[in-house]
Amino acid sequence: MEILNWKELLYPYEQAVAELKVKMEYIMKEYKRFGLYCPIESVSGRIKEPSSIIGKAKKKNVPVEKIEEEIEDIAGIRIICQFAEDIQKVISLIRRRDGNDLKIIEERDYIENTKPSGYRSYHIIIRYPVNSVSGYREVLAEIQIRTLAMNFWAVNEHTLNYKYKGNIPPEIRERLKNCAEAAFNLDNEMSTIRNEIIYAQKVNMRMDSVISDIIDNIQNMYFKLRLSDVEKINKQFVELWNKGDIEELEKFSAKLKEMTEPYRR
Ligand code: GTP
Ligand code: MG
Repeated sequence: MEILNWKELLYPYEQAVAELKVKMEYIMKEYKRFGLYCPIESVSGRIKEPSSIIGKAKKKNVPVEKIEEEIEDIAGIRIICQFAEDIQKVISLIRRRDGNDLKIIEERDYIENTKPSGYRSYHIIIRYPVNSVSGYREVLAEIQIRTLAMNFWAVNEHTLNYKYKGNIPPEIRERLKNCAEAAFNLDNEMSTIRNEIIYAQKVNMRMDSVISDIIDNIQNMYFKLRLSDVEKINKQFVELWNKGDIEELEKFSAKLKEMTEPYRR
């Protein structure tokens, strides 16, 4: 295989990964800003190592000049979800962008069609436009969407595959299949308490926000009210905080806001 100018080849992929990550992170921010449950738990991205690109090209008999057309995962984004149900939501968020800032080339559902290894994930291959100083290009990228449990399994299996160069001993392979089964069951079990967890997360977010508002307001009062009055308010706050009733805290916060309104600007 002839020597490629790897740096130049990889630049647009690197940019694509960075941009796609930011876009996914902004989806997360938007959910959080509105106090909504976010179907994305975390996002990561990477570009494929040149050695892996060469290895894959050899394995698939892809000539060097066709690497960019035929190797779809030089740029890779991984979206991790807490629950299996969230994967559908993420898929539709991406489908909604089809023809907009990305083009969907192919979808591969390894959740419905679990691989013989036990691998589960949803893949979307996209074509992504990259604008740089050297001009306009389109690159392929692979978006993997999976749950925390699916990821736990895949990361460990990948480590073993790497060590055994793809030939994991049958006994370990058998155990990995059991692990895949256990991860599948864990996803199903977690789904049964999904609503509880979503509700708890929302209450936690409201709690964080109300406590932070109250503290800000009390802080301001120190400059404007008599010390003894502020201390009285502070005592009320501590009592309510100990009770931990979100509704009462929100009422209290609204009252403080009203009190501090006249001297806020
Ligand atoms: P490669 O599997 O990379 O040769 O790509 P492919 O063209 O066969 O596409 P496929 O959709 O099978 O896999 C794309 C990517 O999914 C891989 O690069 C891995 O990141 C992941 N993947 C696929 N199968 C497995 C698996 O059995 N175990 C793990 N850990 N990851 C897998
Ligand atoms: Mg494969």
